[in-house]
Amino acid sequence: MALFDGSNIKLDVLKKRAFNYRWAEVPEGTIPLTAADPDYPAAPEIRQAMMDYVQDGYFSYTPKLGYPEFSESIAARLWDRKGEKIDPKQILPIDSAARGMYIIAKAVLKPGDEMIVFDPVDYLFRESCLAAGGKVVLFPARLKDGYIDLSELERYITARTRMIGLCNPHNPYGVLYRPEDLELIMSLCEKYNLYIMNDEIWSDIVYPEEPFCSIYTLGSDRCGRVMSVFGFSKSFGIAGLRAGCVYTTSAELFERIVECSDVLSTAGGIASISQVAGKACMDSCYYWVDEFLVHLKKNRDYAVERLNGMPLIKAYSPHATYLLYVDVSAFGMTAEAFTEYMKEHVRLAVVSGGEKFFGKGSEGHIRICFATSHEILKEGLNRLEKGIGMLMKERGLDQ
Ligand SMILES: Cc1ncc(COP(=O)(O)O)c(C=O)c1O
Repeated sequence: MALFDGSNIKLDVLKKRAFNYRWAEVPEGTIPLTAADPDYPAAPEIRQAMMDYVQDGYFSYTPKLGYPEFSESIAARLWDRKGEKIDPKQILPIDSAARGMYIIAKAVLKPGDEMIVFDPVDYLFRESCLAAGGKVVLFPARLKDGYIDLSELERYITARTRMIGLCNPHNPYGVLYRPEDLELIMSLCEKYNLYIMNDEIWSDIVYPEEPFCSIYTLGSDRCGRVMSVFGFSKSFGIAGLRAGCVYTTSAELFERIVECSDVLSTAGGIASISQVAGKACMDSCYYWVDEFLVHLKKNRDYAVERLNGMPLIKAYSPHATYLLYVDVSAFGMTAEAFTEYMKEHVRLAVVSGGEKFFGKGSEGHIRICFATSHEILKEGLNRLEKGIGMLMKERGLDQ
């Protein structure tokens, strides 16, 4: 049976195990197209590696900076899949990409320092800055010709700016950055001596229209101010194992990252079994990701066509991620009210735009995750269409 056949999705298990707005948290009968977490089980190689590890029966402490062979596997894939030349000794495995972002923020921000956070973008940029005592300066990141318009970015830099957050590819827009965009961001950081929090957790989920272009392609010699984050939740569906890593080409920054990660005191760090799983991802599972992408592209094309055939809404077709960013502003209600309506009336859960998850610039939008089967996606979109029809009638928008 094909890996991404709908019959491989075990709803009975998901209903017990998939939290964070997903199957285990929604009322029975509701379809969640919410958190960015695949409905498919993880690749067999990941499961086998974990079972072999468990079988031996030892669950001892791990090296404080993670298993060297795990970092070596990560470095090999960063190089051959993304052209990033990173010394494995400067890769710190950590318990999630989210944690990595918090560590980076703590490593460079002092209370009152400003960080530029795009609006919209994943809330972890804002939260990591705030947790470090930093001040969030929102940059309204609007789309222009399918890319984020950076022409006004410089205006948001002040004497207190220390860092710019870069989400490449971008969640929730699903857009990539072009070499010229990265050049512009890097030039500003060089001009004003700023750090870059470079989140590449979505860098594997990229469709054939356009290649992923990493900031490291500007040349490693220019990337000493870059601290990067990668995670295994999106590409490999192991979010609950809390696996990720932070890396940088700067030895000095790496030292600060290690200090701020609490791994030296053992108060922080990634579980041994999560590293075993992560290494299996890196060594043996990119075939799975590539097949997943073929499936996702079909889902994306189907969903974008369906959505853009529905009245009053507009969906962007993402070049990366398995997220659809949909404009529902024509309904004249908040994104949260729209989302609540769908949950209540047609039993469909999606993520609401607005302040909480992506920033106020995402008001009037919803985000739909399509990392599921064609059948579940189709049913979800049928429900959305029905809900839109009901809402139009109720609000007199169908005249
Ligand atoms: C852009 C971005 N960064 C970080 C994360 C967090 O990933 P993790 O599960 O590894 O903490 C997510 C999860 O949705 C994300 O979209």
